[in-house]
Amino acid sequence: MPFLIDDINYAQKELNIFRSKTFYIKDGPIHERFIFPFLCGSYFTYRKVDVERITSLAKAISKDPTYLDVGCGYGDFLEKIIQYLPNAEGIEKSADIFFKLGRYKPDYIKIGDAYNGIEKKYDLIFVGWMEPGVDYRDKIAASTDVIITTFDKGGQCGMNGECEMDEYGFEKIASWITPSWIDVNTELLNKYYSKISNRTIEFLKQLRGAHNLWYVYSKPKYKDIIKETLIKSSKKDYNKDVYEHEKILDECGFSYNEMLPSNPDICLWKINFEE
Ligand SMILES: C[S@@+](CC[C@H](N)C(=O)[O-])C[C@H]1O[C@@H](n2cnc3c(N)ncnc32)[C@H](O)[C@@H]1O
Repeated sequence: MPFLIDDINYAQKELNIFRSKTFYIKDGPIHERFIFPFLCGSYFTYRKVDVERITSLAKAISKDPTYLDVGCGYGDFLEKIIQYLPNAEGIEKSADIFFKLGRYKPDYIKIGDAYNGIEKKYDLIFVGWMEPGVDYRDKIAASTDVIITTFDKGGQCGMNGECEMDEYGFEKIASWITPSWIDVNTELLNKYYSKISNRTIEFLKQLRGAHNLWYVYSKPKYKDIIKETLIKSSKKDYNKDVYEHEKILDECGFSYNEMLPSNPDICLWKINFEE
């Protein structure tokens, strides 16, 4: 069930308390996005590489791509996308998250419920996935040929935890794994906001996991161009030109292309193509 405005008000109060108690921590303002993800960032832990991958796909499909972020919240990720796709838009069900909290709503975010259908067709629809019990995959499928979705391995989406689009005539083309905000949150809390010894922190760090999945789906006609574009994008060096919050990911042991000691089969952000 989607959260209630009271929950967000409560979180905002907790955020204010957090700020009053941690103002001395140098990177505290950047930590906030992994501690209060909805209010201060996004539920998923992205890097510039994610933004460039997704926008390069949109550009490969169309010269002047249309893009929709469904359930975009305050639009933290969408803002980054707009740097590359100026016409990108978002749809967000809750007007309250803006108006009851006195937060600015940009024009590129429309208030609307995806359950009522998506107004027009888009070249690419992004679904930074839904809460458990929320499932509007049929509406998304009717409005685009290319879908990118990201969700927690914990099984957030759909009535029964389904996030797959295969049953709507889409093919899964590629995927990659990143840490979830909770993975990063755990490392940050251990290191900065607990009294655990350094030795124990180092030990716990070895157990860190990565639980966010990103899937690229398309109708068969776009399969080749999507593969080609992703292969090209994977050759770029993503270690230099990055967002400020990426330094926290590096510090917490979630670097680009990092392999995790707890699961050496996973190479973070590496694109895996479907057979
Ligand atoms: C888990 S939050 C993710 C927000 C944002 N994408 C992020 O990463 O922070 C899910 C968002 O989807 C919105 N939402 C839920 N159901 C929706 C629907 N049927 N149509 C549009 N938005 C919806 C919620 O109000 C909420 O802001």
